[in-house]
This record gives sequence, structure tokens and C-alpha cells, in this order.
Amino acid sequence: MKNFVFESPTKIIFGKGTESVIGEEVKKYGKKVLLHYGGGSIKKSGLYDRVIDSLKAAEIEYVELSGVQPNPRLSLVEKGIELCRKENVGYILAVGGGSVIDSAKAIAVGVPYSQSVWDFFEGKATPQEILPLGVILTIPATGSEASNSCVITNEEGWYKRGIRTDLVRPKLAIMNPELTFTLPPFQTACGIVDIMSHVMERYFTNEKNVDLTDGLCEAALKTVIKNAPIVLKDPEDYAARAEIMWTGTIAHNELLGTGRVGDWASHKIEHEVSGIYDVAHGAGLAVILPAWMKYVYKHDINQFAQFAVRVWGVAEDEENLEKAALEGIKKMEEFFQSIGMPITLQELNIPNDRFEEMAEKCVQTPTKTVGNFVELGKTDVLNILHLAV
Ligand code: NZQ
Ligand code: ZN
Repeated sequence: MKNFVFESPTKIIFGKGTESVIGEEVKKYGKKVLLHYGGGSIKKSGLYDRVIDSLKAAEIEYVELSGVQPNPRLSLVEKGIELCRKENVGYILAVGGGSVIDSAKAIAVGVPYSQSVWDFFEGKATPQEILPLGVILTIPATGSEASNSCVITNEEGWYKRGIRTDLVRPKLAIMNPELTFTLPPFQTACGIVDIMSHVMERYFTNEKNVDLTDGLCEAALKTVIKNAPIVLKDPEDYAARAEIMWTGTIAHNELLGTGRVGDWASHKIEHEVSGIYDVAHGAGLAVILPAWMKYVYKHDINQFAQFAVRVWGVAEDEENLEKAALEGIKKMEEFFQSIGMPITLQELNIPNDRFEEMAEKCVQTPTKTVGNFVELGKTDVLNILHLAV
């Protein structure tokens, strides 16, 4: 097990009706907030009105910035930074999913920084200060409500890039599973795949003697696999929504990655896909993950066989670990299909004429590679994209 520092300071308030305390919680940090949200789902569901009521009851002033798109854009982040400076905002409140939260995180690190916030995403600077940030989560998926990362798309060149720093972990996350009842099946399923991917990115590691986190990863995956069909059949099943929502946070707050080095190549490749084609992150992952697995499983057949047996219930076969490993990957694909996810680029209407460009952008790293479980160069990324067709 590797040395590690684990700090997950986000205060989590979980359960029915919890959004009603937002005003009192914000009051601890400031008098004026930026209320940041997406395309209107929070208005349709009535959540917006409840948030405003709570802010007003606590005598909190607010300004609003809506219109965050899935795969959040740099231009809106820049608008938010200007607005916060002009209005002297002291707290950012994100109400929505990963896109809204990430947009809010970027605004929060951008306000105290005098130059372009994109510097952080290009690795030219590291954020040193941040405005306090709170979240009311409406879709369990990215784990951004407690994660140390933030992913933004720059429309100039369609670069989708992330930053990782503990500074961007929100101070507060309010998580009411009832708020997820209104999610369409497609978004529910995208979230489920994203949650599973955050676990699997950590599960496939070269680190040995990580039994505890192996077991936690397996439990997280099995919890989601069990509850996914329940919420797709009955979107208002509170118990199942709650299981998925809490797993989504645990999957990405780094607890499952303690003492091990995760892979993250699938995420990097998917970010190139959604950066250019603007597909939902979870749907992109449902396509890229199986292709990545087929490409790398021979690197550690034991771990892939363990994954197949413990997570997917494949019969143990010590004589033929490869057969078990491949069966596990197949079961995962079948599961993705069963919840309505694509498993090929074709199903996402993505042609193969920009693979070269995606592979090139993907390995624009200091080492010219992506991934830690297996280090992949440009040709490997191209091969994986071809396997995903
Ligand atoms: O914009 P509105 O109208 O709110 O609609 C949203 C959006 O269209 C809708 N939605 C959200 N909650 C709803 C709802 N519709 C009905 N009822 C509700 N309760 O769902 C759509 C998708 O929302 P979005 O926020 O884009 O989804 P998600 O949470 O999957 O976020 C995806 C973004 O996060 C990044 C992804 O790359 C992508 O850009 N990620 C962020 C990470 C992080 N910061 O830690 C890690 C992830 O790996 C990921 O890369
Ligand atoms: Zn993800």
C-alpha cells in the first residue's frame, strides 16, 4: 500500500428535505451568493423556489447565473467570474449536476486570480485561493460534490481539460435522493456508468496488498449494479436512489483510491470524445471502458478474473483465468446495454474520421502517455478507439 494523505472536508447533509437548510448553511460564510444552475430542470422540479425561499429566510442576497450546459463551457465560467467581481459575491452555490458544480468550481478559483482561469487547466498556474463553494446535488454521477477535480471545455479548439486540487472540494454538499426522482432514464443510466467508472479507474491498479480498498470498490460496484434496475423501473424508489447517490460520492471522494494509484486512461480518452462530440460523459464511458479493458486485460489477468468473479458472479476457474476475465468484461457490457447505454461509438453516431486528432490531443501530457495501470501512447489510444467502433 502506498503512503497517502486523505482529506475529504466536504460537509455532507444527506436525506429527505435537506435542501431547506441551505440558507442557514450559506449564512455561515457570507451575505451574498452566486446561484449557479443549468438549463432549467431545477425550475421544473420546484427546487429553485425552495432554494430561493431558504436564502430569503436567512436574509442572504443572491445573483443568478443559469445556462450551464452539459460539458460546461469556459465562456460561461468567464462570465461568472466577472459577475462575482462586479457584485462582490462571497459564496458560490451550485444547484445541479457535475456540469454546474464544475462550472461553479472554475468560477470560484477564477475570481481571486487576476489572469485567465484557463491557465489552471493548461497547467500554467496552480490555484491558491478559492471562494467558498456549496452544492445542492441533483444527479448522482460525477462525484464532483466532494471531489478534488473540475472539468471544463474551452470552445476554442474544443479542449476538455481538468484540474485536480483539494482546494476545489466543496465546503458543503446537500444530497436529497428525492431530488433525483425527476431524472430521465438516460441521465440516470449515464450517472450509474460514471459512478462505476470512478470505482473501476481505481480498482485496476498495479499496487498489491490493497485488500480493503479492493473490497470497498467491489461493494460499491455491487451496490450500484443491484439498485440500477430498481430506479429505472421505479424512478421514485427512495431507498434505491439513496444507495446510488451515496455510492456516487464515495466513488470519487478518493476514499477508494487511498494507498493505490488509479489508471484514468478511459476518462482521458472519453474527455476527447465528449470534448469534440458533446456526448454525455457517462454514455462515452460506457463505450470506452469495455474497449480499454479488452485492450489491457492481459496486463493483470488475475485482477480482471477477480473483478469477474467477485463483482459479476462469474464462476471461479483457476485453470482458465483469461476465460473468466473476458466473461467479466462481457457481463459489464451486457449490464450497460440493459440500462440503455451504448457500447459502441457507432451507437453514439461518432464516425472514425477524427480518431487521429483525438488520440493526439489525449496524449498531450508531459510523458506523451495516458494511464497508470498500463501507460498508453498515441497508437494505443488509436487502437482503443478502433476497438470501440
Ligand atoms: O441543465 P439542467 O436543466 O439542470 O439539466 C441537466 C442536464 O441536462 C439534467 N439534470 C440534472 N439533474 C436533473 C436533471 N434533469 C432532471 N432532473 C434532475 N434532477 O441532466 C443533464 C446532465 O447534467 P450534467 O450536470 O451535465 O451531468 P453530470 O453530473 O453527469 O456531469 C457531467 C460533467 O461532469 C464532468 C463530465 O466530464 C461532464 O463534463 N466530470 C466531472 C468530474 C469531477 N468534477 O469530479 C468527474 C467526472 O469524471 C466527469 O469528468
Ligand atoms: Zn467520470
